[in-house]
Amino acid sequence: MAIRAVLFDVYGTLLDVHSAIAREGRELGKAAEAVSRLWRQKQLEYTWVWSLRGAYRSFSALTEAALDFALAAHGAQPAALRDRLMQAYERLDAFPEVTQSLAALRARGLSLAALSNGDPDMLERGLQAAGIRASLDAVLSVAPLRVFKPDRRVYELGRAWAGAPAEEIAFVSSNAWDAGAAASFGFRTFWVDRAGQPHEYDLARHGTTVGSLRELAPHFP
Ligand code: LAC
Repeated sequence: MAIRAVLFDVYGTLLDVHSAIAREGRELGKAAEAVSRLWRQKQLEYTWVWSLRGAYRSFSALTEAALDFALAAHGAQPAALRDRLMQAYERLDAFPEVTQSLAALRARGLSLAALSNGDPDMLERGLQAAGIRASLDAVLSVAPLRVFKPDRRVYELGRAWAGAPAEEIAFVSSNAWDAGAAASFGFRTFWVDRAGQPHEYDLARHGTTVGSLRELAPHFP
């Protein structure tokens, strides 16, 4: 089946969520990496729990709550640092291979979109600041659905944008739980395993594992 469009997860896949603390979190010293990991873990947990509760809060509000928890858990809570980190989250670095990899896919005639938990304004600003907004045809946010991934309605939003059956759409995420859900929705799924993590969520059977976005283009001859 020929693929017509490619959907990308944003946080962790196109944008490096750990670049905020790498850039602004020097005063956290040795705890910096652990705070960054806990911040991300709590942010995701909050999206799942609020979705299961049938309630919705904006991704930026949950990101802020997760940061407060992560800083407090490590006994660090200076307001100035917190504000700087939230600002840095709006200007995350793109992974180094993103621009070239998206260009290679576009050159193959594929339509490209972001499909993310992020708020629309946060996504537009973040992708712009990272210099990759122009590489995408569309930026799709869960906000109008008021539910987060891995709710199936999110993947349907991407399918409807592409205007094609799920099997003619590729989905790319570094988040295994997200990739697993996308594969079960019916997308041709690529899991970006930059860190060499073990397989989970049936991805070994239902997805294709790549080490970076650079490895995508040869799959779309
Ligand atoms: C996103 C989160 C899951 O961008 O990384 O949707």
